[in-house]
Amino acid sequence: PTPQPLVVAIDGPSGSGKSSTARGVARRLGLDFLDTGAMYRACAWEAARTGAETPEQIAAVVTAAELQVTTDPDDPRISINGTDVTREIRDPEVSATVSRVATVPEVRVDLVLRQQQIIGEATRGIVAEGRDITTVVAPHAPVRVLLVADPDARVARRQAELGEKVDTAQVTDQVIRRDRDDSTVATFTEAAEGVTVVDSTHLSLDEVVDRIVRLAEEAAR
Ligand code: DC
Repeated sequence: PTPQPLVVAIDGPSGSGKSSTARGVARRLGLDFLDTGAMYRACAWEAARTGAETPEQIAAVVTAAELQVTTDPDDPRISINGTDVTREIRDPEVSATVSRVATVPEVRVDLVLRQQQIIGEATRGIVAEGRDITTVVAPHAPVRVLLVADPDARVARRQAELGEKVDTAQVTDQVIRRDRDDSTVATFTEAAEGVTVVDSTHLSLDEVVDRIVRLAEEAAR
């Protein structure tokens, strides 16, 4: 029988390094890559563009949206209703409003189904990252990892991403606020049964990628 394509599920809070980690693992193993946060972000961008504010309006925009996601770890792109928003979804305005979109139950049901479809169609296997991948989207994935890091390390990483111009207090505030906003989404600080916790606080990106690649190799045996 042909082996099932490998699915690697990675969850973690904002700034845990899960996106870089997931891309690194996908490159090393020759797998596709899915950033599920990008899908929530694209929906938040579209909700803002169309002026959707109430949960009902947001749900209507999302369920009717055409979302196109590409899964090349070297160039993952996302379009919503025909507009490529790969760059725009990283804008601070999107980061500030995305939790409001991600907490609408109909939005989650809709995006989880789309994510499961993308994962199911990934014939060469896929690394998917987010907040609820190990628990809701792909609870039966052979490799499931919760990536954690101390708040200080996450603040430092977020600051490095944003550049010199932002001050530490502001970034700390953002990271803590995002944790709080997102905590209504999923309890991603505790690993579900069978999920391996990897603490990246004192590890380099390469070391974290190595660990997960090893878990994947063990799972494949
Ligand atoms: O990982 P990120 O910062 O790009 O995620 C953006 C937002 O989407 C964040 O508020 C958490 C939410 N999210 C979610 O609720 N479920 C996921 N699987 C991925 C992201």
